[in-house]
Amino acid sequence: MDAPRIVVTPPGPRAREVVEEDSRLIMQSFSRWYPLVVKEASGVVVEDVDGNRYLDFNSGLVVVNVGHRHPRVVEAVKRQVDKLIHYSLTDFYYEEAVRAARVLLEISPIEDGKVFYTNSGAESIEGAIKVARGHSRGSRPYIIAFLGAFHGRTMGAMSVSASKPVHRRGFYPLVPHIIHVPYPYTYRCPFGELEERECGEAVIGYIEEWVFKRLVDPSEVAAFLVEPIQGEGGYIVPPDNFLPLLQSLARRHGILLALDEVQTGFGRTGEWFAAQHWGVEPDLMAAAKGIAGGLPLGAIVGRREVMDLPPGSHANTFGGNPIALAAMMAVVEAIREEDMLSNARRVGGEIMKRLREMGEEIELIGDVRGKGLMIGVELVRDRSTKEPAKKELARVLEESFKRGLLVVGSGESVVRIAPPLSITMEQAMAGLDILEEVLRDVSRG
Ligand SMILES: Cc1ncc(COP(=O)(O)O)c(C=O)c1O
Repeated sequence: MDAPRIVVTPPGPRAREVVEEDSRLIMQSFSRWYPLVVKEASGVVVEDVDGNRYLDFNSGLVVVNVGHRHPRVVEAVKRQVDKLIHYSLTDFYYEEAVRAARVLLEISPIEDGKVFYTNSGAESIEGAIKVARGHSRGSRPYIIAFLGAFHGRTMGAMSVSASKPVHRRGFYPLVPHIIHVPYPYTYRCPFGELEERECGEAVIGYIEEWVFKRLVDPSEVAAFLVEPIQGEGGYIVPPDNFLPLLQSLARRHGILLALDEVQTGFGRTGEWFAAQHWGVEPDLMAAAKGIAGGLPLGAIVGRREVMDLPPGSHANTFGGNPIALAAMMAVVEAIREEDMLSNARRVGGEIMKRLREMGEEIELIGDVRGKGLMIGVELVRDRSTKEPAKKELARVLEESFKRGLLVVGSGESVVRIAPPLSITMEQAMAGLDILEEVLRDVSRG
């Protein structure tokens, strides 16, 4: 499929009908980015119900890392459907679960691990919190999470999240014994204008000085739960010293390092998992999103001795569905065979280079950051005050959509670029041509 191809300004007539029906039939507890009504998708191209085609810089929502309907995934799903669709793994056994666990452990940053399958990112986080607290047999009730974090919408996952007040308003009381500390958002370091590494050190110092000495003894903390790169918070890449420092702080106090690799995982950043950029070995890790090429699957991976919840204490009905597992194994094969990790690094590098060049002329661009194909472009109204360009972001997303490029935002005013890892340089540059034109137009007002 070729894209972009706009045959009618979206939303077209059929799209408008679906949007209308959707608003009557489906609870509107979420906010859609723009009225895209998808009919089909293949690779990096999405077609809507009116025949418009778009270049997809969203990958669904950072899910189809191998591209839409990758042939390997389609084939694996079809084969599995003809064999076995369900037989609750936490009540019985099947071979696919063991095979897939072996594959997952092979690519994970945890040397000697075990797996628990879930159905979503939030469920992986819920489980990871239980594993962390349960491993201490109740002696360490606290979890330290980070401001700006997003871990999901269920009660536990929401309680460790802190990216937007609207996520929690009206849902109190939350899960207790969760402490939030600042994240090293170097473009807006919460500790003032500091060098990148100093900002990383300041966060660690804050935990030691202000949290451990005044609020809670480290012996009561089960885990640090952290996104190696904050996703919904604004595609925030921490300074290089941060995760290694956090790991050593955790080890000094017997606290587990739990990474939320739900968005950063499965090749998104040019490594299988983002932890691998910094040589960090987490004790626990949550995965989902890109893991199964679009099928609902998540996983908790943890060090063997940490994954020790007693029988009966944690289980689910659908986790590790055999079709989703077959898809996951196909995703791993596809990434390996097509060397998508290198492609993510190569294309991602060129995208960032071009965005930085654009930034020399387009005042709206305040910061460009990322790893692999997880790239954020922070828009500001004024480079000296760094006032977030929220309205401008909304216009950039809407205009890009109308011109055939699908991008969404994150944080307050960040354009998020997360295309499939299979994207060609040509497709990436075609998408950037649209984005550049839109940014120039919006910048001019
Ligand atoms: C880092 C991170 N963790 C957890 C989640 C929650 O995943 P899910 O929507 O599958 O529950 C998300 C979703 O955006 C995420 O980005």
